[in-house]
Amino acid sequence: METLPGFLLPKINTMNTLTISNLNLTYKNGFQAIKNISLEIGNGMFGLLGPNGAGKSSLMKTIVGLQKPGSGSIILNGTDVSKDPDYIKQNLGFLPQDFGVYPKVSAYDLLQHIAILKGIKDNSGRKNQILNLLEKVNLSDFKNKEVHTFSGGMRQRFGVAQALLGNPGIIIVDEPTAGLDPEERNRFNSLLNDISKEVIVILSTHLVEDVRNLCSEMAIMNQGKLLRKGNPNGLIAELENKIWSKPIDKNDLEQYRSSYQIISQQLIERELYITTFSEEKPKDFSPVNPLLEHVYFHTLTQIH
Ligand SMILES: Nc1ncnc2c1ncn2[C@@H]1O[C@H](COP(=O)(O)OP(=O)(O)OP(=O)(O)O)[C@@H](O)[C@H]1O
Ligand SMILES: [Mg+2]
Repeated sequence: METLPGFLLPKINTMNTLTISNLNLTYKNGFQAIKNISLEIGNGMFGLLGPNGAGKSSLMKTIVGLQKPGSGSIILNGTDVSKDPDYIKQNLGFLPQDFGVYPKVSAYDLLQHIAILKGIKDNSGRKNQILNLLEKVNLSDFKNKEVHTFSGGMRQRFGVAQALLGNPGIIIVDEPTAGLDPEERNRFNSLLNDISKEVIVILSTHLVEDVRNLCSEMAIMNQGKLLRKGNPNGLIAELENKIWSKPIDKNDLEQYRSSYQIISQQLIERELYITTFSEEKPKDFSPVNPLLEHVYFHTLTQIH
């Protein structure tokens, strides 16, 4: 068989794998924020859901090496990140929940500074990479503007550009669309979606709908524990014919709570609806098509 010359071969996307095993993290004050978490994540978008204080940021900061786990391991593409911090620095991008203070320097100069910190030494390669990234996140026209003058959406897109410096195999973004208007949120989400074709993108968010629309795999955590993981559609399908709803008088809420496993209550056109999980149809309730939101609330209200 004839072999094709290298330049004619189709570009093969690199597969990346992140394997987290039995990870535990206890803060100096004795609080255990991560409890024995194990996860395997490949290319594509992975959504991490959980209420405030669940441990999402703690997990992300541990993966990127900002804090050391008490026990367990994090392996990226076969490399144990605790044993090779330089590998993480070069192969992992992070957009933290709180970026801190934005310096009074231009977008271009700040990317240049971060690129040097990441060890990107080649001058002309670095320049090209920065210009390409600014283009990718739609900030080329603002490259000479100081980052502290950017709007929230522009800051987050800048944050993605800095995370992508050095061409990492994985980027981790912690609640990146909090505070963005709907248009910027859509723009940001489609940017992440593009990126996730070639790298692992781990996204933490409170927006269940975004995980449903963007992520091929997801996990729900609470109180430091990983409660559920899987494919959003698969998790929704598990609740088929098990979610029921009913409008009630708000004075009867406590009574319903004592008799049913109520997973959520919601005002719809000023009427209070309760939603319950049950294998059998409860009397006077109507069936509801399950949503990822039901998966989320059902998981959180189960006893773990
Ligand atoms: N440096 C720290 N020292 C002690 N406890 C901490 C520290 N950082 C976080 N915690 C605690 O760990 C728990 C998890 O916090 P974390 O910030 O990881 O939650 P989160 O899921 O990211 O929440 P949010 O959705 O509000 O961002 C919380 O109870 C928090 O108070
Ligand atoms: Mg957080």
